[in-house]
Order: sequence, then C-alpha cells, then structure tokens
Amino acid sequence: MAIRKVGVVGCGLMGSGIAQVSVQAGFPTVVREVSQPLLDKGFAAIRKFLQGGVEKGKLAQADMEKTLANLTGTIEIRDLADCDLVVEAVSEDRALKRELLGALDAACRAETLFASNTSSLSITELATFTKRPERFLGLHFFNPVPLMKLVEVVSTLRSAPAAVREASDWCRAIGKTVVSVGDSTGFVVNRLLIPYMLDAIRVYEQGLASRDDIDNAMKLGCGYPMGPLLLGDYVGLDTTCSIAGIMFDEFREPRFAPPPLLKRMVLAGQHGRKTGRGFYDWSTNPPS
Ligand code: CAA
Repeated sequence: MAIRKVGVVGCGLMGSGIAQVSVQAGFPTVVREVSQPLLDKGFAAIRKFLQGGVEKGKLAQADMEKTLANLTGTIEIRDLADCDLVVEAVSEDRALKRELLGALDAACRAETLFASNTSSLSITELATFTKRPERFLGLHFFNPVPLMKLVEVVSTLRSAPAAVREASDWCRAIGKTVVSVGDSTGFVVNRLLIPYMLDAIRVYEQGLASRDDIDNAMKLGCGYPMGPLLLGDYVGLDTTCSIAGIMFDEFREPRFAPPPLLKRMVLAGQHGRKTGRGFYDWSTNPPS
C-alpha cells in the first residue's frame, strides 16, 4: 500500500519534528494533541525551525508557507481516520499508549500502518494493544528530528514484511537513512548510547573529572558533536533516567542502572534543557 497521508499523534519534541519532516517531504500530515495549547506550542516549534531554515537560506519563505498549509492540527483522534500511516509519539507511558492505540485502532482503516516512536517500550507489546500486529512496527527517530538522519525501523515477530517495506520506503522518502532492527529494549542506538551516558554521569559523580573536562574529552577526543553530559541535558535527564530504568528491568545488567546522582537530579526537577537546569544552566545561551 502506498503511503499518501500521514498522521502523527503527539506534537511534543519528537511528534512535532516527525510531523515537520513528513510535511516537508510533501506528505499531507495531520498531527493530533490532547489540547489546543499543546498543539499551538508544537506548531510554534515547527514554525520556528522552518523560519530558522529561511534565515539560513535553506528554505524559501514561499516553501515554508506551502509546507505549513499541508499540515493540519487537531485534538480529535477521528481526524486521523483516513491516514495511511499513523506514527505515535506520545510520552513513554504504557497505560497512555494502550488507551490511545486502542482508540486509533477503532478509528482507522484495517490496512492503515501503525508505528510507535517509543525509545524503550516493547513494540511487540504495543502491537497487542491493537488488532493489527502484522501492520504495527517501531519507527524510532532521533532528536532533533529534522537534523538527525537516522530512523531505526523495528520489526516484531509478527510484523508483515510488506509493512516493514512500506514504512522503510516512507522513511527514505522523508530523507532519512534506515537501519533495520529487531524488537529488543533500546534497539541499537539506545543499547549503546544509554550505558555510555550513564558511565559519563558515574565518572562525574565519582569526581574523576569536571563536567567540562568530561564533555570536552569526548567531543575533542572522539569527535562526538556533543559531550555526554550536555547530550543528557539535551535529551532530558528524566527521559534518560526512564529509558535506563526500563532497560535495567529488561536486562538486569548494572550498566543500565540509573546512577544515584541522575535519580536525584530528576527528583529535584533538574531535567536539563526543558527545565532550564541540568548539568548545565540553560537560562544562558550557549548553556554554561
Ligand atoms: N533549518 C534548516 N537547517 C538547519 C536549521 C534549520 N532551522 N538549524 C540548523 N540547521 C542545519 C545547519 O545549517 C547545519 O547545516 P550544515 O551542516 O549544512 O551547515 C546543520 O543543521 C547543523 O546545525 P548547527 O550548525 O546550527 O548545529 P550544530 O552543528 O551545533 O549541531 C546538533 C547541532 C545536530 C544537535 C549536534 O550538536 C548533534 O548532532 N548533537 C547530538 C545529537 C544527538 O546525539 N541526538 C540523539 C539523541 S538520542 C535520541 O534522540 C534518541 C532517544 O531515544 C533518547
């Protein structure tokens, strides 16, 4: 089945980015949020990014307006009924996803392809919340979605090869490179990235090196675009801690256990960029 119209559920950091790259690639896209203020916030982020592209000379103003005209916001699930692909990008809450996927399953056609952008929950389990496990898979995007080139396409034991092919073709059509992954917690990227980020926090916690020296070490010593502590702030320390907790539950390996400092920072509301404070002070630009 050809994908013509795309639905995205959730217009937060990831959902807004996914909706943006979809509509920028020419797919009429509908994005659903639970309330108008959240929708407005997501649209403002998309507009800001596109405007940034115009200012950098990467996008014509007219193309920006054309792109935005193809993007529809809604707070109703039923407005996604005629989509060929629906990408779920709501927060990592199993119960929330269960309820949402059930409602989407009832609203959409049987052949509509469903994908979840979860970074840590089991795609196999999410698929059981619908009556279409053969047309359900994972499409794991990376933050910031418009700039990061990768999508992990995650198939389960029940995903139909045709569904995987259609989803992979769509990812390529929106300009992403695809890697194919089986359904295992964290897939490939987080399986490798999360223990690395947790180890950086442990090094800092043990006083082995300062924040800036840890980040500079990995930036300048390994050529990474950001050091691991800055990346933690950027991804969100709450998100990092939650993914680590889920991976620890799954694998029972100490390398996935969230370090005490990370847990305390999350409890203290120091979640990084989103709360203005993490390892860095985000009220200044660049963070200090
Ligand atoms: N419109 C169009 N292009 C834009 C743009 C805009 N609004 N903003 C930036 N760009 C372009 C720039 O022009 C530049 O393009 P060129 O390379 O052609 O010059 C490019 O994007 C990079 O932009 P910047 O120079 O402004 O930014 P940067 O070089 O500082 O890079 C970054 C920013 C891409 C975020 C980089 O720091 C990076 O890659 N960081 C690591 C991010 C990462 O690891 N993400 C994954 C996190 S894990 C995750 O997401 C998964 C999970 O489950 C937790």
